[in-house]
Amino acid sequence: MNTEMVAITEKEFKQISSLLYRNFGINLTSNKQTLVRGRLNKIIRTKGYGNFTNYYNAIKEDKTGMLQIELADNLSTNHSYFFRENEHFKYLTTNTLPEIEASQKLKEPSELRIWCAGCAAGEEPYTLAILLKEYFGNKLSNINPVILATDISTSALSTAKTGIYTQDKLKSMPAKYLDKYFNNMGTGKYSVKSNLRDLILFKRLNLMRDTFPFSNKFDIIFCRNVMIYFDKPTRETLISKYHTNLTSNGILFIGHSETIGRNSSQFQYLIPAVYRKK
Ligand SMILES: C[S@@+](CC[C@H](N)C(=O)[O-])C[C@H]1O[C@@H](n2cnc3c(N)ncnc32)[C@H](O)[C@@H]1O
Repeated sequence: MNTEMVAITEKEFKQISSLLYRNFGINLTSNKQTLVRGRLNKIIRTKGYGNFTNYYNAIKEDKTGMLQIELADNLSTNHSYFFRENEHFKYLTTNTLPEIEASQKLKEPSELRIWCAGCAAGEEPYTLAILLKEYFGNKLSNINPVILATDISTSALSTAKTGIYTQDKLKSMPAKYLDKYFNNMGTGKYSVKSNLRDLILFKRLNLMRDTFPFSNKFDIIFCRNVMIYFDKPTRETLISKYHTNLTSNGILFIGHSETIGRNSSQFQYLIPAVYRKK
């Protein structure tokens, strides 16, 4: 079998990276040429495109949009794990949830709405589901929690819906939650119990949409380690859209390596990478 890598020219790299930027906001710098070549090599070979130009033309001509989805699946970085950047989850349970609980918000009829934007394979929304169960206990069903978890990657979302993880994804999670919320499949894999899965709605959603299709606002938005792939104008537009989609005093969590500036007119800085809607 011929296993040689398909070559990519400067022009072909620019075509693919511009398409990815225009449609998904993902900003591939020129040093990512080897990554693009490596990640798309298999599709180009196995699907008979032969070279990057033919592949690019096929994506542009595809009216179904499926080839674009496949491109995003292959070029998005879906790395995540349970209890990642745990300072945020500590803040959530010691500040955000008590504050929401003390407000009128959870008096009946109530609904606690959390959006996990860029949820990868589900590690972050399942972490949130565990924490809601731990925090509210039996009272959780009165609160009608909604965790909406969205991503552009269909393959990541499919893993998320299946809810099966290897141990390395779970190593930052306190051990006490393993038996409580997972079934041990006996093959080094763990499957999320249905009482956790039922708290989450997984949907494909491109954050580059002009507006989001939600009829209700969110009390909390998590969008962590997603905006690092976007340029400044794209990040600023997205942050404004988060502002629009948060309830008054709603809380926004972004990744630790990301910032929206302490002097933002829309958000009040709380702790690193956590902001309150002004
Ligand atoms: C590195 S993961 C972050 C996962 C998780 N939030 C965390 O912090 O561990 C980034 C995710 O953002 C998603 N993403 C990138 N661009 C997107 C877009 N335009 N719309 C929706 N999701 C996007 C990717 O598919 C990927 O799953």
